[in-house]
Amino acid sequence: MNIHNVEFIKSAANAKDLIETPMPQIVFSGKSNVGKSSVINRLLNRKSLARVSSSPGKTIHVNYILVDKRAYFVDLPGYGYAKVAKTEKARWSKLMEEFFIQPDHITLGVMIVDARHKPTADDVIMSQWFKDSGCDMIIVANKVDKLKNSEKERNLSVIRETLDLHNDTQIIMFSAEKGTNSDVLLAKIKDSVARWKQ
Ligand code: GTP
Ligand code: MG
Repeated sequence: MNIHNVEFIKSAANAKDLIETPMPQIVFSGKSNVGKSSVINRLLNRKSLARVSSSPGKTIHVNYILVDKRAYFVDLPGYGYAKVAKTEKARWSKLMEEFFIQPDHITLGVMIVDARHKPTADDVIMSQWFKDSGCDMIIVANKVDKLKNSEKERNLSVIRETLDLHNDTQIIMFSAEKGTNSDVLLAKIKDSVARWKQ
């Protein structure tokens, strides 16, 4: 995977539109506005392939991006945005349930949290969904550019504790804006794709 060929394939609003594929799926999830789309754009070196929003709750569908015809990057809709209508929340829950119910289809779960804050109750639930699905998971603590150096160690342990992470689950301090540790995350993704069902 060299990230030469990047195609936006599909935006799924409902369970029936979800893609079933034997190809590896790298799944990005996190609360609204945490920077999921920005992280994906940074990794793929594109400005706006996954849409970036200044108002939260913009990515409301499951977006599929095919990379080098080899793996899907899946941008899940953000959660935890208070101003979303009840009907929208219900649609989100149904969509996520159907997404996670597909057996053994997530190659790597990329759980994105805000490096500045303690993970929310919703973050805890989302990380549990990844854990329950049995996939490999990595935590991306995004917006680290807004954090003082002296705060990093402490925030790392708060994130690890709150999400109750397995000792070998890695947390990457990341900045989609500055590109910090983009190479580290990309290496992890490439490794997962290479090892998928070998
Ligand atoms: P939804 O799709 O609405 O759930 O949002 P999202 O999680 O995809 O977030 P998005 O990528 O749209 O970014 C939300 C806002 O955070 C935008 O204004 C980004 O410019 C900003 N942002 C994203 N990543 C970073 C980062 O690493 N550092 C800083 N300072 N800002 C960031
Ligand atoms: Mg988004």
